[in-house]
Amino acid sequence: MTEEQRQEIIRLLQQGEDISSEWARILFPPEKREYELVYHGKQREEDILADTLAVPLQPVRTFGKNGDGWHNMLVFGDNLQTMKSLLEAKKAGHLCNADGTPGVRLVYIDPPFATKQEFQGSQDQKAYQDKVAGAQFVEFLRRRLLLIRELLAADGSVYVHLDQKKAHYAKVVLDEVFGEQNFRNEIIWRNTNTHNKAETFGQIHQSLFLFTRSPRFLFQKTFRPRLRRYVEAHYRHTDEKGAKFRYSDPTGDGIRNGESGAEWEGYKPTETGRHWAIPGFIYDLVDDDISKLGVIGKLNYLRDHGLIQLPRKRGGQPQIVRPESVGDGNPMQDLWAYQPYTQGAYAGIGEAIDEDVTWATGDSEATGYPTQKPEGLLSRVIRSSSAKGDIVLDAFAGSGTTCVVAEKLGRHWIGIDCGKLAIYTIQKRMLNLRREIGNKGPALKPQPFTLYNAGLYDFSKLKDLSWEAWRFFALQLFQCRDECHRIGGIELDGYLKGASVLVFNHQKQPGVRIDEETVRSLHEALGSRVGSRLFIIAPALTFDFQQDYTDLGGVRYYALRIPYSIIHELHQREFTALKQPSDELAVNDTVEAVGFDFVRTPQLEYECGVNRREGTLLPEAFIHIKTFKSEAVVRDPMRKKGNRETLSMVMLDYNYEADIFDLDAVFYADAIGKAGWEVRFPVESVGQQIMAVFIDIYGNEARELISSGQIGTAGASAAVTSKRDNKKKAGAGL
Ligand SMILES: C[S@@+](CC[C@H](N)C(=O)[O-])C[C@H]1O[C@@H](n2cnc3c(N)ncnc32)[C@H](O)[C@@H]1O
Repeated sequence: MTEEQRQEIIRLLQQGEDISSEWARILFPPEKREYELVYHGKQREEDILADTLAVPLQPVRTFGKNGDGWHNMLVFGDNLQTMKSLLEAKKAGHLCNADGTPGVRLVYIDPPFATKQEFQGSQDQKAYQDKVAGAQFVEFLRRRLLLIRELLAADGSVYVHLDQKKAHYAKVVLDEVFGEQNFRNEIIWRNTNTHNKAETFGQIHQSLFLFTRSPRFLFQKTFRPRLRRYVEAHYRHTDEKGAKFRYSDPTGDGIRNGESGAEWEGYKPTETGRHWAIPGFIYDLVDDDISKLGVIGKLNYLRDHGLIQLPRKRGGQPQIVRPESVGDGNPMQDLWAYQPYTQGAYAGIGEAIDEDVTWATGDSEATGYPTQKPEGLLSRVIRSSSAKGDIVLDAFAGSGTTCVVAEKLGRHWIGIDCGKLAIYTIQKRMLNLRREIGNKGPALKPQPFTLYNAGLYDFSKLKDLSWEAWRFFALQLFQCRDECHRIGGIELDGYLKGASVLVFNHQKQPGVRIDEETVRSLHEALGSRVGSRLFIIAPALTFDFQQDYTDLGGVRYYALRIPYSIIHELHQREFTALKQPSDELAVNDTVEAVGFDFVRTPQLEYECGVNRREGTLLPEAFIHIKTFKSEAVVRDPMRKKGNRETLSMVMLDYNYEADIFDLDAVFYADAIGKAGWEVRFPVESVGQQIMAVFIDIYGNEARELISSGQIGTAGASAAVTSKRDNKKKAGAGL
């Protein structure tokens, strides 16, 4: 700082004036880095890693028979909290790759960027608001990248898939998180054919940034096969066996002395400013080891084995014979599925260059999930940066493209998504797999996988846990360290913020309540040896007092209740709920959920039947939602109470057969509202019974099994209109 600046700042401070932000850099110059991305709300790395809650993973159900070893994981929850839990699993040695390396070998993420920001106001206000949203997005992403870095194996890789809106900011953040030296590629993926509506050049690509955890990383080269047109144009000769070949120059640029510049078979390379240079592919063609021979020795060998063609006229240039079978094609470059009209080594007019990586999701693989990526794209990512048996993670799983491709390629996988639609889409996709990329070919039975809840728990299932499993869950839920110890003859279970924790064994003492008397007798045994705080975790109904804590003899006894307990003093942050979208565009919004909650089935009343509407040719089945109200408890500032205000979507399985919900159609609340709160669907799609899942914006479900008889379609002609009043209370959720 100059003397002048020093005096200026003293003057400002003495006059009590505000110090503008320009002074921040002068007063606190960045120490470690030459440059970094600065924005409002950027947290310290250490704080993010330390403060993120790790939420327990509650198994919901396992598909397929589960052996003792690894089983694939589909997690419903916020990915930040889930990855913190996975990090603990890594530390405990539960996440290992095929070769035993701890951690995840490959992460692919395709995070959403809130596209649906509607901001009314002047252009300036809008631009400002976009920047705020932009900064929030960058920090949202950065927090997740930090966890990903920690989860990766030492030789692991991450691919971050983004479009051009925020890719450049993300690149800077990736440089900060992984180090510029670990940046490997920016892959340009042509994701559409044309974009003619653009006012300037049509945007037809997205970027994938490839970073590795360290300079030592796993990478397997992939090759692009030569195109038929290219082979026809360049491999014009055919040998006596019918195999195609071309001639290739055995010389290189520049004059050299010694054998490399010597005359051979009457040809002097130096006369044209060149020297002998044997191309590398030759070594794959010969059976003998010719690497130790000199250049002339190699030329003689190739001539004797028919791999060099001598010119008809002495003094002309000999040519190497290069069969079409040599090499695997061209190693993949960083431009994928590009310009089909490019002329060049690997293109022919009008032919798509990448046969495996397309810009569109094929019909056989389309799930209807917005933003679904093609299997071919993920296939290349997974084949390049992981081996069979390695763990592949997608923390923004969406329709589950990464998971299904990992499954087909024999990798282990973990998929996380905070959307119920995503979870049901993946479940269905996994159970209807076909062997080939693009979801073609014979059926493929997936390896067993388990669906987990992370952050939104089903209390009814918790009650069935064994004592040990309950104790573990309870400790994890409140971020306690699992460490048994004894004080005053009392067995305690762990520590929370330095204080002891007791997990009350309600199974051993059924019917016993925790009241002031219990606390008093505990206090008698523990006394002040326990310190100033003790935490008691127990099922909510076991406590006989309502308050968060009770004080006795200088010790504060906290009640941590399951299913519901948010004690701000402990968590020091607001809990926020998982948000489910209520229209299709919102599926691509970022979601931040902090903390945990317990499933509360929404209140639901509906009627269903068949309607013949004016202007429609065929009668339609309908479900009319009369009442839908959420019972969610989590502290949500936006908490809505009005009728149907909290409906997110309705999903239908038209022909519910087994106990697996097989998603057939989704209806967003927005559209349902516009249709007079009716879900309408073709009568002919209804099987014996429909499973309808009504989801609230917090992710709670009300499930209804509706028979065709109830709707009025069973055995009836399509013209029959019936309306039944199926007044019901909702069933249990997932
Ligand atoms: C662009 S989509 C991914 C599409 C996916 N690559 C595919 O091929 O289908 C992004 C997904 O991220 C999910 N998401 C957004 N915020 C999340 C969060 N905090 N935790 C977990 N998933 C999140 C959304 O629900 C959405 O499904």
